Amino acid sequence: MTRKMLVTSALPYANGPIHIGHLVEYLQTDIWVRFQKACGNTCFYFCADDTHGTPIMIRAKSEGITPETLIERVHREHYKDFSDFAIAFDNYYTTHSEENRILSERIYNGALEAGSIVKKTIEQAYDDQEKMWLPDRFIKGTCPRCKAENQYGDSCDICAAHYQATELINPVSAVSGHPPVLKESTHYFFRLADFADALKELFAAGYVQSSVRNKLDEWFAAGLKDWDISRDGPYFGFIIPGEDDKYFYVWLDAPIGYMASCWNYCKQNGLDFEKVWNSGEYEIYHFIGKDIMYFHALFWPALLISAKLRRPDKLFVHGFLTVNGQKMSKSKGTFVMARTYLNHLDPQFLRYYYASKLSGDVGDIDLNVDDFVNRVNSDLVGKLANLPSRSGPMLTKTLGGTLGTLDEAGRALIDELVQARGVIVQEYETLNYASVIRRIAALADVCNKYVEDNQPWSLIKTHPEKARTVLTAVLNASRILTIYLKPVLPDFAAKMERFLNIPPLSFADTDTVLENHTINPYERLIERVEKEKVDAMIEDSKQQTAAPVAAAEPSKPTLDEPLAEECTIEDFMKVDLRIAKIASASAVEGADKLLALELDLGGVTRNVFAGIAKAYKPEDLVGRLVVCVANLKPRKMKFGLSEGMVCAAGPGGSDIFLLTPDTGAQPGQRVH
Ligand code: MSP
Ligand code: ZN
Repeated sequence: MTRKMLVTSALPYANGPIHIGHLVEYLQTDIWVRFQKACGNTCFYFCADDTHGTPIMIRAKSEGITPETLIERVHREHYKDFSDFAIAFDNYYTTHSEENRILSERIYNGALEAGSIVKKTIEQAYDDQEKMWLPDRFIKGTCPRCKAENQYGDSCDICAAHYQATELINPVSAVSGHPPVLKESTHYFFRLADFADALKELFAAGYVQSSVRNKLDEWFAAGLKDWDISRDGPYFGFIIPGEDDKYFYVWLDAPIGYMASCWNYCKQNGLDFEKVWNSGEYEIYHFIGKDIMYFHALFWPALLISAKLRRPDKLFVHGFLTVNGQKMSKSKGTFVMARTYLNHLDPQFLRYYYASKLSGDVGDIDLNVDDFVNRVNSDLVGKLANLPSRSGPMLTKTLGGTLGTLDEAGRALIDELVQARGVIVQEYETLNYASVIRRIAALADVCNKYVEDNQPWSLIKTHPEKARTVLTAVLNASRILTIYLKPVLPDFAAKMERFLNIPPLSFADTDTVLENHTINPYERLIERVEKEKVDAMIEDSKQQTAAPVAAAEPSKPTLDEPLAEECTIEDFMKVDLRIAKIASASAVEGADKLLALELDLGGVTRNVFAGIAKAYKPEDLVGRLVVCVANLKPRKMKFGLSEGMVCAAGPGGSDIFLLTPDTGAQPGQRVH
């Protein structure tokens, strides 16, 4: 009987890059989805970027771009990172979409009709300078308990105390540096307690793993409080119907983003969204980390119930990643971005390693660097890839690359492997990948022993047809192991399929064997992990945070203007600087600070508006070399399109200085 299911991972925030901590979740989910598909089930994997809220608004502002531009860029980066780790979404959407706005309004209106929305006036911190409300994380001050300076408004990093922002000593806004004021405002609240009984029923029906059930009981015992679902402008999000400067709090529309991603997919694929989400035809599962359980175990199902929509069947909650037994740390170089990992190592290593550690409970999982290297090299390369890598070339080089038939011993070997299928399927289903991996490694040991016992490399010289029979068994065994591994290592499986000259494998293929079949020349399936590359990745991760610190001015502890948000070396390396020659320069009518420049980048011409008119005369500039940001997104200005930027710095007015390259530099040449 085949099943139909909708599966999601939590939506990553659009204000930062994907790191190896996030990947625990996306890999855990991807493996499960691939497993379901390999079993012949219909399984859709939906995700999206979580794009709303104050941090994104502020980050965009600090970069001098609109939030829309920021979230588009981050969406591309996230999607590329996921794809390169072979995380295969059926749809990777955004919460900043029309579908999400419509669904958010629908769910809000549903809750309103159910009488579960109330208005209350509350007091909140406000930045009078920036004219904005301050979430706790944007207030800094001295910890009321241990007196550590520069702590956040909700908790202290030094003594781990939790407190109200109003308790901070000498609080200041992290945005403007000015002390916040308390101001009254009306907010909308969702009455969570109205759904206590419905939620209890849901939990009794197995909505969460038994290991997280206790946590929910604790929350119940503490009482379900009203949830503030609105934020005052300026805010980046959806306007609340009937209001003109109040928005839905990001956590209201974020989970609705799961549905929006599904709806968008349905539209593109001719499916009826209402039926897919609401009819019960599809099972619905959310994969999340333990830090966001409250939202997914309480608010989210309650909202859906209030709006009379189908709620998910189950949450799968995982723990956090530690590296070498400790929290990921920037200074230790263990806070590794997905992209940094990819610059040094094969993504399959991490897929394999995480699978070997994930057992489906909420415990944290540890990436121990030495264990990572050993396990990949000894199990994946030494045991699993070793089977086809030794047998394949023997068969193709001396026996024409054609498999024979299985004898009794070969049949027995294959039977033993096929027998494990039932429990492997069960273990995948219950997220116990660690056990799957141990089982596969043990089966590989059995196969390697079979090879040792039968010595095909000697047989081939004396009894080539007997050697063919042995190799037929070994390659069939590798094929079965590949089926079991495929959800974890899709690339490895694809290479095996090419080598064995067969269509894509699925779990049903364990019922058949390959006999009298010609295979392709062997291609390497996987390389060993080199410890030096892991070290280089860690070193690289350290550098990423060291650079901005080093660049800060040490002699001046307080800057008149607060520093813009930290920029990583990776961000910085995206800037493509080229030598350009100023082909023409002219004043811009109506803009006394601007000059219109025509830049020659060695064959390519760019028109750029530069704010240097008070410092340079157009006629002095023609023919001169400058440094130009060549990959800046073209920007429409009042006076025309600006297709780049020339590098100049200074306090302003006539005190602006263009960078002056060496006279021997060639237009178009890249500079650093
Ligand atoms: N945007 C919210 C989720 C909204 S879902 C409607 C969010 N984003 S996040 O980017 O901070 O995290 C995304 C997922 O990655 C979460 O499930 C979170 O638990 C998980 N992880 C983030 N850091 C992690 C580790 N260091 N280790 C394991 N999982 C981690 O929360
Ligand atoms: Zn403290």
